[in-house]
Amino acid sequence: MWTWYKLLIFFYLTTEIWMEKQFVSRRGMNLQAYSTGNFTDLERTRFKRALYKGHYCRTRGCCEDRNDDCVTHFYEANAMCYCDKFCERENSDCCPDYKFFCQGDNLYQKGCLRDGRHYEEGSVIKENCNDCTCSDQQWRCSQQVCLVRPELIENINTRDYGWTAHNYSQFWGMTLEEGYKFRLGTLPPSPTLLSMNEITVTLPSKIDLPEFFISSYKWPGWTHDPLDQKNCAASWAFSTASVAADRIAIQSNGRYTANLSPQNLISCCVRNRHGCKGGSIDKAWWYLRKRGLVSHACYPLFKDQIFNNNGCDMASRSDGRGKRHATKPCPNNIEKSNRIYQCSPPYRVSSNETEIMKEIIQNGPVQAIMQVHEDFFHYKTGIYRHVNSIKDESEKYRNLRTHAVKLTGNITVALPLVGTPVDCCWPQLPSAS
Ligand SMILES: *[C@@H]1O[C@H](CO)[C@@H](O)[C@H](O)[C@H]1NC(C)=O
Ligand SMILES: *[C@@H]1O[C@H](CO)[C@@H](O)[C@H](O)[C@H]1NC(C)=O
Ligand SMILES: *[C@@H]1O[C@H](CO)[C@@H](O)[C@H](O)[C@H]1NC(C)=O
Ligand SMILES: *[C@@H]1O[C@H](CO)[C@@H](O)[C@H](O)[C@H]1NC(C)=O
Repeated sequence: MWTWYKLLIFFYLTTEIWMEKQFVSRRGMNLQAYSTGNFTDLERTRFKRALYKGHYCRTRGCCEDRNDDCVTHFYEANAMCYCDKFCERENSDCCPDYKFFCQGDNLYQKGCLRDGRHYEEGSVIKENCNDCTCSDQQWRCSQQVCLVRPELIENINTRDYGWTAHNYSQFWGMTLEEGYKFRLGTLPPSPTLLSMNEITVTLPSKIDLPEFFISSYKWPGWTHDPLDQKNCAASWAFSTASVAADRIAIQSNGRYTANLSPQNLISCCVRNRHGCKGGSIDKAWWYLRKRGLVSHACYPLFKDQIFNNNGCDMASRSDGRGKRHATKPCPNNIEKSNRIYQCSPPYRVSSNETEIMKEIIQNGPVQAIMQVHEDFFHYKTGIYRHVNSIKDESEKYRNLRTHAVKLTGNITVALPLVGTPVDCCWPQLPSAS
């Protein structure tokens, strides 16, 4: 037993040492290859920086025949690559720009490289939200602030801010300005809205507020998932229709569970003439009360908001007894029911976190207007808190806009009604995947 044990240890040690030696000698080989091109330290740093831009053979120079010293660091792949003729084998170990710089007569052909591909002078490629033009063998890029910022995502995800960030592919390529312009769409609360009296929820004095709460568990089938507003800046309509639909289902004890049509609001609420260019929630609530909405199935979202945002395809008339009825069929061939849903007047809940929790638990989801900072577009999970941008650039980013969301539960942290949101509600930005 003993010997076996010792042997094992011994074997283990020798393997380690042997491996270490192997490692050193291989590294030595690489070092040697590297030091033959005799650069000063400064030159070497510059060399590295140039390499990063996809210049390998262009910087190293090309070599004839087989020349194992004709090698350079391929940083992107964490490997070495070659610029000698010998690299053109079946298992090529040529640098990405070998073909372009070392082959044929193209030795100093004009144009630019990107990921090993050659682009003509004047070519334009897109780098996230910026356009890069090849000019004098260099990429020159516009300097717009992008909506998705990989360095911000990394900063958030590697530190403990309490929430995680995500690279939403539908935001990739948009500028921050476009994000504010197309992905939000609620005007700041008007004086009328702000002067509404707060209602205090009366609950049995003994109620334990749960650790977390999810509306769809308490009212299965009665609450509605968020619709994606895409590039239509109408969170005023999306959040209002969704909260109203949930509330109608809950108040009717599940008798009316249809989702309501934000498109009906966008196209027909003439007091919010801007449609997909923003609107106010008080006008939306006014419309719901006075005119009413049909279901989302009856009046679905247009595929392309930008080009279809003109006419209103629904109308209603009062029957004289306080109820309204649609005077047009649904603007699609499938849904037959053009029932009009109306709401009682909205009320305002105090901004006290506990009060909001009670309200949601007792009566259903609420709507909140919040200020949006640039980092919110990356929000995925956790409890959102604004993370400040890099100081010297802050002016570019400090550009707040307002947004309206539906709060459905899970409130365990501070949640002022106008301010930071919670980790539950993502009605207008993409439904988190
Ligand atoms: C190193 O630099 C010296 C002086 O600049 C030059 O004469 C020599 O050829 C270089 N050696 C190599 C291997 O490039
Ligand atoms: C983010 O997503 C886009 C689109 O899906 C992708 O092209 C890009 O490489 C991603 N960026 C990062 C840093 O993951
Ligand atoms: C919020 O309301 C609760 C009672 O519902 C009260 O105990 C608490 O102090 C209030 N918090 C603030 C910040 O006003
Ligand atoms: C709600 O919060 C709990 C506890 O923090 C968490 O485990 C859960 O995933 C959250 N649910 C949602 C839908 O965010």
